[in-house]
Amino acid sequence: MEKKKILITGASKGLGLAIAKKLSVDYELILHASKLESFREIIPGSHILCADFTDNEQVTGFCKQLKKEYGQSLYAVINNAGLTYDKPLNFQPEREIDAMLNVNLRAPIMICKTAMKIFGLLNRGVIINISSVVGESGNAFQSVYAATKAGLTALSRSLAQEAAALSDNHSIRVLTVSPGFVETDMTAGIPDKIKEKYLGMIPAKRFGNVEDVAEAILFLLSDKASYINGTNIHINGGLI
Ligand SMILES: NC(=O)c1ccc[n+]([C@@H]2O[C@H](COP(=O)([O-])OP(=O)(O)OC[C@H]3O[C@@H](n4cnc5c(N)ncnc54)[C@H](OP(=O)(O)O)[C@@H]3O)[C@@H](O)[C@H]2O)c1
Repeated sequence: MEKKKILITGASKGLGLAIAKKLSVDYELILHASKLESFREIIPGSHILCADFTDNEQVTGFCKQLKKEYGQSLYAVINNAGLTYDKPLNFQPEREIDAMLNVNLRAPIMICKTAMKIFGLLNRGVIINISSVVGESGNAFQSVYAATKAGLTALSRSLAQEAAALSDNHSIRVLTVSPGFVETDMTAGIPDKIKEKYLGMIPAKRFGNVEDVAEAILFLLSDKASYINGTNIHINGGLI
């Protein structure tokens, strides 16, 4: 039997790569990163699509290619690519603000737009947008990053409602997954003192690992999760 196809953005490393490895048993994968050289590992049998999401034209090209090549068969999209530049807003260069808005919010919106077109025609599909605990809690020195992540939650909730109008059999689901502190390149540069502070705030008394998130995504994509829609699933050891 043919495997269902899933797009994972930001699959070169960290959470995206772990999600890809977890899903590779059951699904056929379309993996994205900003460029081919970024991939730390290429999962055998996967398809690769590259685009730098800071560049709006590349995002347009990426969406066109996605629709053209996988428009008949796409089962799900995981909008995982993201970046952060942590600093006080009053010292944040405009180019960093634009990069966070483009990669974390504009690109997922455009990819959701493409996916909604595809899923509307196929009458089924799942979108999972990867947000963050800070999209709800806020976080000093991550104001723009947090704003983009809060945007993704609102996007998912709205699209879940929109999907009900598009799909006759109500089989399009749109969700957000919000990890807490997970050990990847993104968090590697955080000073030990700040890490200790976060650890003190986590009832589970450990940082998350990429497996914690990948396992949840595997479940959320399955038919067992068919009644989970529009909501924001927190994976943060109880942080908020
Ligand atoms: N780690 C955490 O604690 C944590 C917590 C909450 C939420 N998250 C979210 O989880 C997602 C994955 O994070 P991570 O920790 O796995 O980060 P990561 O290890 O830094 O990986 C980020 C991924 O995003 C891609 N990306 C970055 N800039 C891009 C650009 N300009 N164009 C296209 N792709 C780009 C990267 O591709 P390249 O390698 O090509 O740059 C990479 O594949 C992000 O959305 C992040 O906000 C992470």
